[in-house]
Amino acid sequence: MKINLNQYDIQIGEDTMDKIDESIRSFYPYKEIFIITDDNVFKLYKDFMIKKLSSFTLHFISIEPFESSKSLKTYERVINQLLDKKIRKNNLIIALGGGVVGDLAGFVAATLFRGVDFIQIPTTLLAMVDSSIGGKTGIDLNQGKNLIGAFKNPVKVFIDPIFLSTLPKVEYKNGLAETLKAGLIGNPKLYEYLKVNDKLTINEIIMAIEVKADIVKKDPFEKNERMFLNFGHTFGHAIERHYDYAIKHGVAISYGMLFSLELGIKSKVTNPLLFDEVKKILLRLELIKEPILDKEQFIGYIQYDKKNYSDGLRFVYLKDVGKPIIQKGVQL
Ligand SMILES: NC(=O)c1ccc[n+]([C@@H]2O[C@H](COP(=O)([O-])OP(=O)(O)OC[C@H]3O[C@@H](n4cnc5c(N)ncnc54)[C@H](O)[C@@H]3O)[C@@H](O)[C@H]2O)c1
Repeated sequence: MKINLNQYDIQIGEDTMDKIDESIRSFYPYKEIFIITDDNVFKLYKDFMIKKLSSFTLHFISIEPFESSKSLKTYERVINQLLDKKIRKNNLIIALGGGVVGDLAGFVAATLFRGVDFIQIPTTLLAMVDSSIGGKTGIDLNQGKNLIGAFKNPVKVFIDPIFLSTLPKVEYKNGLAETLKAGLIGNPKLYEYLKVNDKLTINEIIMAIEVKADIVKKDPFEKNERMFLNFGHTFGHAIERHYDYAIKHGVAISYGMLFSLELGIKSKVTNPLLFDEVKKILLRLELIKEPILDKEQFIGYIQYDKKNYSDGLRFVYLKDVGKPIIQKGVQL
């Protein structure tokens, strides 16, 4: 199936990779494709990609499979390798991997020659339901995550759950956290599903993608409702920073969502029962553990967050499932 996102579409389904060669040929007349991936995905899927894209000449560039690759150093190294391999402005880049590869490769595509077309092929659940959609790309600085970046839409996103067959359990759970977030901010049916299930079918993956796609379509540059997608992320990013990224993004935003619910309760926006319910789900999915982390220790890191505007902090609170609001001027 296809989801349209104004300037590009997302192709989703169990046969997506079988049709990818033909699909790319329909809009890309050249032979050379530059695939940016990470060392794990490269090992697992290099031959697969060569087989699936047999009409093209593929050039692979592989980065280390860690958040620390979203750095200026790796950015420069990837650009140098692309230039060494003689990439041209009219060539196509593919980001093949999780969110780390997608964010870095997207930023490379946004900035090299002031813009090269790129495709997202997400291989983690998190990247499928979240990071490959919406055009946010970027890298981290010592002061915090995603501090340098650009909006750069891919020309296409190809989502095939086949990649999930090799994904480690801990990474799958990481994606479940963003799926739960999608349910909480935009799809009560998806939320209900996660109350009792821990394995997604293609239907729930599509539901989560639709939540993100609908929001991004309405507000591509995060002036308004796109901020809803940051539910749990203000604390989430602070937690990741506190642990020097040795904690999974999904785990960090799981605590972040709980802290936002807690703040929402304090401001009389959120029903305390919702906090209990979400906590129960997160414990069952093993995304959080008791005793719950103490949020006070992360507050110091929030000053660099992009959501810290000159008029104070903005947080996403939930009035109910599917009813997020933006709360301005939050004091912690
Ligand atoms: N741009 C956005 O809108 C957006 C949204 C959410 C998150 N993000 C970013 O995404 C990043 C996290 O992404 P992630 O959770 O996908 O992590 P990741 O990219 O680090 O991938 C996690 C691990 O899974 C491995 N892997 C990937 N695909 C695999 C597969 N099919 N089989 C086996 N192993 C596989 C990787 O090698 C890596 O070790 C963070 O940097 C976060 O900031 C961006």
